[in-house]
Amino acid sequence: MNDTLNIIENRVSLRKYDKRDIDDNTLNQILHSTMRAPTAGNMMMYSVIVIRDQKTKEILSKTCDNQPFIATAPVLLLFVADMEKWHRYFQISKAEEFEEKRNGEYSSPSTADLMLSISDALIAAQTAVIAAESLGIGSCYIGDILENYETHKELLDLPKYAFPISLLTFGYYEEEYKRNHRDRFDEKFVVFNEKYKKMSDEEIKEMFNEKERLFKENNPYDAENFGQMFYARKNGSEYFEEMKRSIGEMLKNWK
Ligand SMILES: Cc1cc2nc3c(=O)[nH]c(=O)nc-3n(C[C@H](O)[C@H](O)[C@H](O)COP(=O)(O)O)c2cc1C
Repeated sequence: MNDTLNIIENRVSLRKYDKRDIDDNTLNQILHSTMRAPTAGNMMMYSVIVIRDQKTKEILSKTCDNQPFIATAPVLLLFVADMEKWHRYFQISKAEEFEEKRNGEYSSPSTADLMLSISDALIAAQTAVIAAESLGIGSCYIGDILENYETHKELLDLPKYAFPISLLTFGYYEEEYKRNHRDRFDEKFVVFNEKYKKMSDEEIKEMFNEKERLFKENNPYDAENFGQMFYARKNGSEYFEEMKRSIGEMLKNWK
């Protein structure tokens, strides 16, 4: 394995950080690499908000489904899918009037822009993760940033076409940190040849065999199987209801 493959192989989501701060020089290296990420049409439809302020971190640790470790990370980066800047530029450029003259209908930020800007933001985010890993800095995605839109909007001054898609925590690995590599599904259930492979019920069950086995050792919901337990923990949970509500509010901004 080469160095890059090793870095990818050894990465784990890090939720416990060394005391060392991430200095500005190191953070700038990560941000520089982040901005080299591929981006649709070279438009860079994203923004990155660097969060070091302890009060803001404390608030986010509560609004993102009460995850106290968020406040212990020296740096948070919020990746925002962002059409605000392009939209403003189109307005300044009188693109709407131009489009009318061409007898076209002006397209204000749409769900197509949203999808592309989310792609941009997430590709940039994962580039930051790998860049940080290469410098001995671990990270963890916080999907719960999708909750409590109204609070996050006010806390971080988010304009209308700025969609906070992913929060990342960053901090150094502790010297003696024991990395726990979480298993993945077998490749045959994930990588298909040439066309999508529709799996039989038997194959779907086989895909979850290992999870069923582990579930028998740990069943906090008194469920009959892993599927029931996982549904109760995630898709049927209170936090997921809040996530759906909050995303619904955000989507109202995009045609
Ligand atoms: C979109 C996304 C959202 C996530 N949200 C959270 C989160 O809110 N809290 C958390 O502790 N981990 C979160 N994670 C980390 C996953 O739990 C982790 O990637 C997964 O369990 C696999 O473990 P690994 O990253 O160590 O391989 C998230 C990961 C992704 C990609």
